[in-house]
Amino acid sequence: MTFTSTNPADFSEIVGTVLAANASDIVEALRRAKKAQAEWAKVPAPARGRVIANVGRLVEKNKESLSRIVTREMGKVYREALGEVQEVVDTCDFFLGEGRRLYGQTVPSEMPKKNLFTFRNPVGSVFIITAGNFPAAVPSWYLVPALLAGNSVVWKPSEFTPVVAKALTSLFHAGGIPKDLLITVVAEGEETFKALDLGLKEGLINKVGFTGSTEVGRKIGAKTGEYIQSACLELGGKNPMVVMPDANLDLALEGALFAGFGTAGQRCTSLGTLWLHESIYDAFLARYSSLVGGAKVGDPFSDVLYGPMISERYLDNHLRHLEMIKPHHHVSGSSALGRITQSNPRPGFVGDPDKGFFAHPTIVAGIKSDDELYYTETFGPLVTVGKFKNLDEAIELSNGHGYGLSSSIYTKDPENVWRFREGISAGMVSINNSTSGAEAHLPFGGNGKSGNGSRQSGIWVLDQFTRWQAMNWDWSNKLQKAQMDTIEIEHNPDFLL
Ligand code: UN1
Repeated sequence: MTFTSTNPADFSEIVGTVLAANASDIVEALRRAKKAQAEWAKVPAPARGRVIANVGRLVEKNKESLSRIVTREMGKVYREALGEVQEVVDTCDFFLGEGRRLYGQTVPSEMPKKNLFTFRNPVGSVFIITAGNFPAAVPSWYLVPALLAGNSVVWKPSEFTPVVAKALTSLFHAGGIPKDLLITVVAEGEETFKALDLGLKEGLINKVGFTGSTEVGRKIGAKTGEYIQSACLELGGKNPMVVMPDANLDLALEGALFAGFGTAGQRCTSLGTLWLHESIYDAFLARYSSLVGGAKVGDPFSDVLYGPMISERYLDNHLRHLEMIKPHHHVSGSSALGRITQSNPRPGFVGDPDKGFFAHPTIVAGIKSDDELYYTETFGPLVTVGKFKNLDEAIELSNGHGYGLSSSIYTKDPENVWRFREGISAGMVSINNSTSGAEAHLPFGGNGKSGNGSRQSGIWVLDQFTRWQAMNWDWSNKLQKAQMDTIEIEHNPDFLL
């Protein structure tokens, strides 16, 4: 069986064809990767860091060709694709130096002639499952630190972006990563889950990394839990953006446009609900509606706000979310709802909409906390808008749905900033900036329905791909018993001046 990957902006164009793996193919890959890991772990970490450096330089050298594949296969605008590939380079740049650090600690002992140390050991072989919206950058957040830390990887990319996965894998191999150390398998969800179960049972998987929906994340978390493992889970979001009356409103408008509709709203960090203070609600909403209404949509290689949905499945999901719009909502942002076609057109569309999976941008205003749209991640070009009276209420509304990935506040008042930071349950907080666009070396991840507390990127992700080992070395030549043979220094507890 094969997967044929087509361009979502022009589905008559085939981007590539790849072999589909079934559960037993994946288990076979897991066995090979497990075997290869032991040798890789013996390579000194600085030498592994050099390999990551090679990969980074190769990705940089191939930045434009890889970005073109990202746009052709996934549909994000070319400028964003370039940014995504740059994020792979940034990740390699960060971790190449980590090969020379990967610090452990020296720790004082409570006894003489005894020394304590900590070491970071690789976890072993890891199984990574990623989504189609960031087909290169997000996988690199797993692959680069996992490999740097001495692990092997079997990677199951999205079946919607296998050609990007193939290209990225070949860059890792060209950079010096042994073939069996990073194996990429393209498979359907059901086969993948079967392989996950078999691989865990056979002891072939020591860590799972998953980016995708909360629903699938819950299943993966439960499955790994059976084997006393905790997966690294990066799940959905319903990311709030709060606009206070003192904000720079022009800046907030620009931020809300990009956060809500950049990447056709298909980032886990995309804006969910825009919360506007009641004193600016009407005027801001009117400006937002006309800004979105006038934005260009269409061919992702031209200068547009966004291109197509990743695939028909993502478009269908968007259409399902439109059914959640209720009579008390006010809809704006485009000439129509749903799929853009020649018979359901959008003014200024660039290209032929009938060739791809394009969707009208949609603003749903008047959102209330008991609306289905309030607590549903929509993952498409749909932004909900609601009203608040004061910051406490805005924070409560921002947290109330149980997601906690990204968040944003626009204000000039530092007190608002600190109160928001303290009150928001999200793992990431932007001040006067978009909910999306996290830099590659800060901890990335969420709480509640957005994740189980694991963090990717920067030094923090090392806790996912290494295990701390504690060592004590007693050179006193006698058995010194901890907590019993400790030194007491004499003192006078009754002393008074
Ligand atoms: C995702 O959508 O899964 O912060 C990741 C951002 C990007 C990564 C998004 N750097 O929007």
